[in-house]
Amino acid sequence: VRLVVLVSGSGTNLQALLDAIAAEGVARYGAEVVAVGADRDGIEGLARAERAGIPTYVCRVKDHADRAEWDAALAEATAAHEPDVVVSAGFMKILGPRFLARFGGRCVNTHPALLPSFPGAHGVRDALAHGVKVTGCTVHFVDDGVDTGPIIAQGVVEVRDEDDESALHERIKEVERSLLVEVVGRLARHGYRIEGRKVRIP
Ligand code: GRF
Repeated sequence: VRLVVLVSGSGTNLQALLDAIAAEGVARYGAEVVAVGADRDGIEGLARAERAGIPTYVCRVKDHADRAEWDAALAEATAAHEPDVVVSAGFMKILGPRFLARFGGRCVNTHPALLPSFPGAHGVRDALAHGVKVTGCTVHFVDDGVDTGPIIAQGVVEVRDEDDESALHERIKEVERSLLVEVVGRLARHGYRIEGRKVRIP
């Protein structure tokens, strides 16, 4: 299975995938990262791809007339690598209708909260502010909403009294990285079916 991974920041989820594939080998893991795309330059996520010898591409919103043009350009640049599955791992833009027209149903996102609670760009901060006792992360298929697609797997993380946003997010990311590696490998090796809001992995 050919994966394209989309990043916007440090890329530790991407790194977890690269490490798992390097450790197990493409045949056993069932997938390989064929390219890494980003919405901005100069981020550690791109450097991680370059260090692994993986092609990268950048689609910046400001280089396009508007969000719709950017969405189309991102879809084109992604399609050039002929992915079977797109993994959005810390990608901080909403994937639009043009992108989903090509990759809907085979685009997986990881979110650092227990959806449907705390969707959006500040899931960790919002959960902390709300005073939840447990939070976690969610791996789901992307649909045309924001963090609303069919849920594949979730991991739970306890919130500690002394937590601030970054401490809690780092602890969530530890669970998130292993959950993403496990889910992507399972989808790659066994395939999947999406039935309404249910995801079936044989
Ligand atoms: C992850 O927790 C992701 O869910 C959130 O931002 C973080 C990105 O981390 N959107 P990284 O770039 O994979 O290190």
